This record gives sequence, C-alpha cells and structure tokens, in this order.
Amino acid sequence: MLKKFNLKDKFALITGAGGLLGNEHAHSLLECGANIILTDINTKNLDKTFSSLKAKYKEKVIIKMKMDVTSETSIKKCKNYLKRKKIFVNILINNASFNPKSENLRSLSFENYDYKKWEREIRVGLTGAFLCSKIFGSEMAKKKEGVILNISSDLSIIAPDQRIYNTSKKYKNVKPVTYSVAKTGLIGLTKYLATYWAPQKIRCNAISPAGIFDGQNKSFVKKIKKLIPLERMAERDEYRSAVQFLCSEASSYMTGQNIIIDGGRSIW
Ligand SMILES: NC(=O)c1ccc[n+]([C@@H]2O[C@H](COP(=O)([O-])OP(=O)(O)OC[C@H]3O[C@@H](n4cnc5c(N)ncnc54)[C@H](O)[C@@H]3O)[C@@H](O)[C@H]2O)c1
Repeated sequence: MLKKFNLKDKFALITGAGGLLGNEHAHSLLECGANIILTDINTKNLDKTFSSLKAKYKEKVIIKMKMDVTSETSIKKCKNYLKRKKIFVNILINNASFNPKSENLRSLSFENYDYKKWEREIRVGLTGAFLCSKIFGSEMAKKKEGVILNISSDLSIIAPDQRIYNTSKKYKNVKPVTYSVAKTGLIGLTKYLATYWAPQKIRCNAISPAGIFDGQNKSFVKKIKKLIPLERMAERDEYRSAVQFLCSEASSYMTGQNIIIDGGRSIW
C-alpha cells in the first residue's frame, strides 16, 4: 500500500454504519489498516455489519455502539466511553441519513410537506453531522489532529429530477425537499469547518455520491441511467477509494472540498 494511505493505529468513527454505504466506508478504512467504531441507531443492522467485518478483519479493533446522531446526550455517551478506553477518534465520517428510497416516496409533495417531518429529517441529515463534528471535532481541535468526512450526495449540487420517480394516480412521488436541503447544507458545513479548524490542522471534506444500484425497480433504473453519461448506477464499492484518499494523508493538502462521484451525471 502507498505509505500516505496507511491508517495503521488510527481510529475512525462512522455514523449510520449499519447501512449500505456505512459498511463500505468501514471496509475502505479497514483495508488501509484503521480500527473502526461503528455507530448507528439500528442495532440489528449494526450487529450484522459488525459480525461480517469482524470475520474478515480479525486482527483489527472493531467496536460497535448504539449512537443516535440527533441526540447530544447519546453522542457524548459514546465520546466518554471511548475516552475511558483511551481511544482518540482520528477520523469522523458523518454518514447517517434518513434515506428516502425511490419506490417509497409517497405523499412527499412540497405542498403537503409536514413541518415535523421536515424537522425530523433535517435533524438526522444535517444537525446530526453538526453535533458529531462539534463533539468529536472539538477533541480533534484540542489535539490538533483529525479528519472529518461528510457524506453528501449528487443532490448537493444538482436538483432532483422528479421525472424519474414513479408516479401513480393516487400519489405524487417526489424526492423530498429535506434531502436536497440536508445534502446541500452538508457542503456548507464542510467548508465552514475546513476554514474554522484549519489552524488546528483538522481537514474536512465531503463526497457526493450518486445512486447505488440496490435492487431498485426496473423502470426507475432505466430512467436514471439516461441521466448518467456512464449509463449505469454505481456499484456499492465504487466510493471506497475516495474515502481512503480523503481520510488519509494522501489528501494532506486538501480541505473544504466536495468530490463528486456521479458517473458524470452533473456535467450535462
Ligand atoms: N445509497 C445511495 O444511493 C446514496 C447515494 C448518495 C448519497 N448517499 C448517502 O450516503 C449515506 C449512506 O447512505 P446509505 O445508502 O448507506 O443509507 P442507509 O439507509 O442504508 O443507511 C443509513 C443509516 O443511517 C442510520 N441512521 C438513521 N438515522 C440515524 C440516527 N438518528 N442516528 C444514527 N444513525 C441513523 C440508519 O439506521 C441506517 O443504518 C447517506 O448520507 C446517504 O444520503 C447514499
């Protein structure tokens, strides 16, 4: 492995680690030699991810913890536990999100968007990254060392093309407004933290992935493919190398940036 990608002895905390991409981020950092702290509110998925990773990376320290990114108390509990174990979080990946699936976007029209739903979703997708960055990033700032990676989306830089979501006579299916707002907001947070903590040597970057193929229905896949120059959705492991790059010294001169990995969707 190239020396600058080596994460041996580093600890990386991933939020939403029980989900599809959280698992991939864990693989990517374990491949570079890091130890991992998997966190999620969904303990069942967390257990599954933990067991599969533990079976593959036997020699690495892998910790799983229930942590709700919307709760300062829950995050602090996790931070204090790690502190007692003398574990310093070198890398924070803000990955947790509410994740509206293409088949399940019923009644999300802007006209009827429920205020409480808006608040709940922004809390997970954006406030969660703020709270985790505040709590773990403050520790990094004290030590003058650390990397924060925010997982955004191609919808941080383009608007959702509502024509690709299935519509029925009964429902108007649309990508919810909160997704666009949270993902765009994460880029603002990325730039803010990059300059704010630059004197403390903390780097903060983002990646903006496009849709990963995960068994979505054929008509949706057909429509989305037409919007992508590479004519396909992403494979789940196609973001790993960007995560390795941004979380390691390989990107030592890079901060405040957003790497867009979208098969070219946003260029035309
Ligand atoms: N899957 C894609 O196609 C895709 C595309 C672009 C961007 N993304 C982004 O990548 C990230 C991961 O997406 P994914 O596809 O793995 O989604 P996922 O739904 O599989 O995983 C998200 C995880 O976040 C967890 N979570 C939800 N609320 C939480 C909370 N309050 N506290 C802690 N954890 C919580 C869920 O339990 C889940 O395990 C998200 O930020 C998503 O927006 C995904």
